[in-house]
Amino acid sequence: MQLAPVYDPTRNEKLRQDFVLGVKLLVNGRMQQNVRDISVGSVEPAVRAMGRSLSRQSLRMPLIKTLEFRQWAAITHASQSMMWRAVEETTERVARSAADRFNALPPAAERKGSLELDASLDIPFPIRDTEIHRQPNGYVSNHSPEDLTAGLRYLGSGQIYSPGKGASSADVDSRGVLLATLVKKQFPGIEPRRILDLGCGVGMSTHGMASGFPGVEIHGVDVAPGLLRFGHLFAEEQGTAIHYKQRDAAATGYPDDHFDLIVSSILFHETSHDKLPAILRECRRVLAPDGYMFHLDVATQIEHQGLADQVMNAWQVRWNGEPFWMGFAETNMKEAIVAAGFPAATTFAEYSGRPGGGERHIFGARG
Ligand SMILES: C[S@@+](CC[C@H](N)C(=O)[O-])C[C@H]1O[C@@H](n2cnc3c(N)ncnc32)[C@H](O)[C@@H]1O
Repeated sequence: MQLAPVYDPTRNEKLRQDFVLGVKLLVNGRMQQNVRDISVGSVEPAVRAMGRSLSRQSLRMPLIKTLEFRQWAAITHASQSMMWRAVEETTERVARSAADRFNALPPAAERKGSLELDASLDIPFPIRDTEIHRQPNGYVSNHSPEDLTAGLRYLGSGQIYSPGKGASSADVDSRGVLLATLVKKQFPGIEPRRILDLGCGVGMSTHGMASGFPGVEIHGVDVAPGLLRFGHLFAEEQGTAIHYKQRDAAATGYPDDHFDLIVSSILFHETSHDKLPAILRECRRVLAPDGYMFHLDVATQIEHQGLADQVMNAWQVRWNGEPFWMGFAETNMKEAIVAAGFPAATTFAEYSGRPGGGERHIFGARG
């Protein structure tokens, strides 16, 4: 039986959401390019003419005073507010039916996969107290044992935010399908038996990994209960066996050497300075000798970005709920992985995809 999607906008809701997508494409396309052009064409030469060396810091004030930057910033902020309002309309309408579907799942012993939530988990900064991407109430919003609204919002926003940034698909499992493809390209012939997806959220990455590696035992951990409930409901309704746990990626609780493939999708830019190395050390601990580690994230590393993009990214930290974006951008992931105990010879940190549209930073190692 083909079930209707849990997040299911009406025609009018979809029209409104598509309008927001149009605004996002404008702001992430032409308007962002206008900022780059004014920066290279006149602001950077003016900074140099004042005898100052060019850096993100010296460029920031003169660039943010330009009309082009102000237009970009204002429309970026407004489009994010519009996005959340548009997504909330659908979320509120379908929240009850999502909870009913969750409650109607068969008893735990009869399910294909599992869901283990831990109300006592100490949720780490910044997820604990930041509305990441300005998502209303944040990822960890959790009003009742049947609350899937955080997951509905996350999925709904992903259908606008990701295509607005150049992703070609925003299906529930699109990120994981891409992840599985990139893993196979990086490690030809890989045949894992047990996979762990860190920071799995609603399972956009986990579910696609399950399709890419059929029959493989697959686990996902995240700190956000509402996202995990959504992921569990989606997996069970699709008949996919996935084991979700509410755990900190830096302390997963799995035994040493338990997995032969560990992945993540857009986790690291949302962690923190302390958490990033701790997560990599945990990967080292639970990855079997000779196992594979592959992470995919935003391509915002400063050595890979022009100065105008760096200033725009730093703006996102303050104004768009991205507290660790610059911290991640300034981290050399290859060095961080080696510092966590992985062999330098098998460690990689590269870029994949089209610059400016769907490009990703990929990094990992062989254990
Ligand atoms: C941008 S989402 C990505 C979700 C999913 N991987 C995807 O591709 O859609 C980042 C996720 O990382 C989770 N997260 C952040 N810090 C974490 C931590 N220390 N342990 C586990 N999950 C964490 C957040 O709750 C969120 O679901």
